[in-house]
Amino acid sequence: MMTIVITGVTSGIGKSLMQMFLEKGERVIGIGRSKERLIKLEQLFKERQFKHYDLVKADFARLSDIDEAVVYIKKRYNYGIDVLINNAAIVPQKKHITEDGYELQFQVNHLAVVKLTHGLLPLIQMVSGVVITTSSNAHRPAKFVSNDLEATRRYGLLRSYARTKLYNILFTRAMNTYVFPKTGVYSYAVHPGLVKTEIGTKDTSRLYAWFWRMFTRRGISPDEAVSTYKYLVYDHARDDACYFYLCEPEKMSKRAASDAYRDALWQATNQLLGLDFEH
Ligand SMILES: NC(=O)c1ccc[n+]([C@@H]2O[C@H](COP(=O)([O-])OP(=O)(O)OC[C@H]3O[C@@H](n4cnc5c(N)ncnc54)[C@H](OP(=O)(O)O)[C@@H]3O)[C@@H](O)[C@H]2O)c1
Repeated sequence: MMTIVITGVTSGIGKSLMQMFLEKGERVIGIGRSKERLIKLEQLFKERQFKHYDLVKADFARLSDIDEAVVYIKKRYNYGIDVLINNAAIVPQKKHITEDGYELQFQVNHLAVVKLTHGLLPLIQMVSGVVITTSSNAHRPAKFVSNDLEATRRYGLLRSYARTKLYNILFTRAMNTYVFPKTGVYSYAVHPGLVKTEIGTKDTSRLYAWFWRMFTRRGISPDEAVSTYKYLVYDHARDDACYFYLCEPEKMSKRAASDAYRDALWQATNQLLGLDFEH
């Protein structure tokens, strides 16, 4: 039985991922930001008679919530984590600054990924596990602006979102360059495809929510979107590829493949969060 941690399990792809791995007989620790939605999910899991699950509340808009979640998981699952799936993300229409002082998308979609991965790394390292981060082909138009990493100068929901999804790939590549050789922990980023979820309706205008629903009408269901994660966890023989779509290596943008951007983001993020992956 594998032990798998997944973020953003109260809806969309994360919820489908958690159910898929529970159906496969794995032990799954799901992280969600809303107590009410976690209670609802627990009811569903009880009805489905799943046994080996845990639900942890952590709102990534508060970095201290991540510290608390890490302390809890480390204490309870001290025998190791086989897979961490960083899946939670948000695309708010208006710019919000968190109580930690960061733009909300930058914090939830990027900083939280790095912080949680760093916190759980000792457990993942124990079993030479893997880290999978949900990115997106929406990263393609994203620019890398080293003196405006948060993209707050001219906030636009898609501009900021695209940058955070670019960061997900750059982070994945940095993990494989700097962390994998020392720990054996390999990282992947996944484009799940266009998926019919509610992500574009959360903290957006009615018009934007309508547009998102129209846009995703041709998308796949969250249950269909889990195939690449399943493939990476059970069937993939590791090679140098790290960005996947439909169970195949996917082409990333030139900026995502840039070593200079990889290193600049790695250094800036670790400095912002006061992290040291080397020790
Ligand atoms: N849908 C697509 O077409 C598509 C395409 C490419 C990539 N993606 C990526 O797929 C991943 C999952 O998105 P989705 O489409 O499944 O949308 P979703 O259903 O909205 O899932 C996002 C999850 O993140 C959680 N979340 C949001 N803010 C959070 C916070 N502050 N702290 C902790 N968790 C938070 C949400 O919690 P709540 O349930 O409480 O809202 C939700 O469970 C994201 O990384 C997204 O960028 C999606």
